[in-house]
Amino acid sequence: MASKWLTRLGIAHPLIQAPMSGSTTPALVAAVSNAGGLGSLGAGYLEPQAILEQAAQVRSLSDRPFAINLFVLPETFDVDAAAVASARRHLDVLMEREGLAVRTSLPERWAPSFAGQFAALCEAQPAVASFAFDLLTPAQMQQLKRLDITVIGTATTVDEARAWAELGADAISMQGAEAGGHRGSFLHEPEEALIGLFALLPLTVRAVGIPVIAAGGIMDGRGMLAAEVLGAAASQLGTAFLACPECSAAEAWKRDLPLAAEHQVTTVRSFSGRAARGLRNRYVEAMQPFEAALPAYPLTNALTAPLRRAAAAAGRGDLLSEWCGQGAGMVRALPAAELVAVLMAEYAEARKNLSS
Ligand SMILES: Cc1cc2nc3c(=O)[nH]c(=O)nc-3n(C[C@H](O)[C@H](O)[C@H](O)COP(=O)(O)O)c2cc1C
Repeated sequence: MASKWLTRLGIAHPLIQAPMSGSTTPALVAAVSNAGGLGSLGAGYLEPQAILEQAAQVRSLSDRPFAINLFVLPETFDVDAAAVASARRHLDVLMEREGLAVRTSLPERWAPSFAGQFAALCEAQPAVASFAFDLLTPAQMQQLKRLDITVIGTATTVDEARAWAELGADAISMQGAEAGGHRGSFLHEPEEALIGLFALLPLTVRAVGIPVIAAGGIMDGRGMLAAEVLGAAASQLGTAFLACPECSAAEAWKRDLPLAAEHQVTTVRSFSGRAARGLRNRYVEAMQPFEAALPAYPLTNALTAPLRRAAAAAGRGDLLSEWCGQGAGMVRALPAAELVAVLMAEYAEARKNLSS
């Protein structure tokens, strides 16, 4: 049953396909939105022009509401040249040892300009915009309101949820410790804000007066219902959609997901310089001794890009950032529309079983 909040937006199911930068495609977003959920385009790594193009592609495939998601980042970053040089040395040694023919290089820019991305998002004017890594400015929030764009802020603690609510967000995406991908923490060290969704949901629902969306480890319709029982207005599933044919995650990554045991899913900084959850693979173990000294996000993210691209091309899942949540072992390789139908059937069945 969709909450009133989602019904107002014209979304039939209490289901949000999580934005996954680098892995969500217009085809995936459109398929989920057409099936009655909310598809979300992870645009954190996209240049402004690509955001406009991908939004247009979604619109050519669907007339349903969809979301665009960005990482809120400053325009410039502190660069410690010695730390960058040291990170490059470690990465180059690793690539040579593993037989990858590429080497690190200094990028033209560490990350796309957030101001440029934000302007593109406003121009694309999706029904929903979601943000992670930090708060917007009040002026940016006002601009979205003027455009009638519904705003979802990502939080990992009750304090962060309150901060988004006070700023005027329409809903909070509450990221439990189980969640795959980067931690959205901004008021706390990510490693200190690893709170399980079962504790986090009721604490947050009690503290804020806006809809709370459950994110982290939800892989089936039973999980969605459990989140609703704990007060969530919808569930946001990322890992569950990673093995869909419409998702652009590398094939090796898709193959490794169903084999993942929950204790192999860990939180690392070594791929990007920011804490993120994924599979503990060969790369994670090899880089562990150097992890603490790697430059912060997005510097390490940019430095590891050639390695990640080469690993994907070579089918080397063991060297890829195989982001996933703790429920990865339950992933299903179904077309997105079919997955939405299965999730909603499971949700209805679980609801029926609860009341019988
Ligand atoms: C591969 C991957 C990439 C992600 N990229 C983003 C992103 O770009 N923006 C964002 O707000 N959240 C991102 N997330 C986090 C999701 O929004 C969500 O919190 C998470 O997927 C929920 O946990 P689950 O993966 O266990 O379902 C990503 C998650 C994954 C697995």
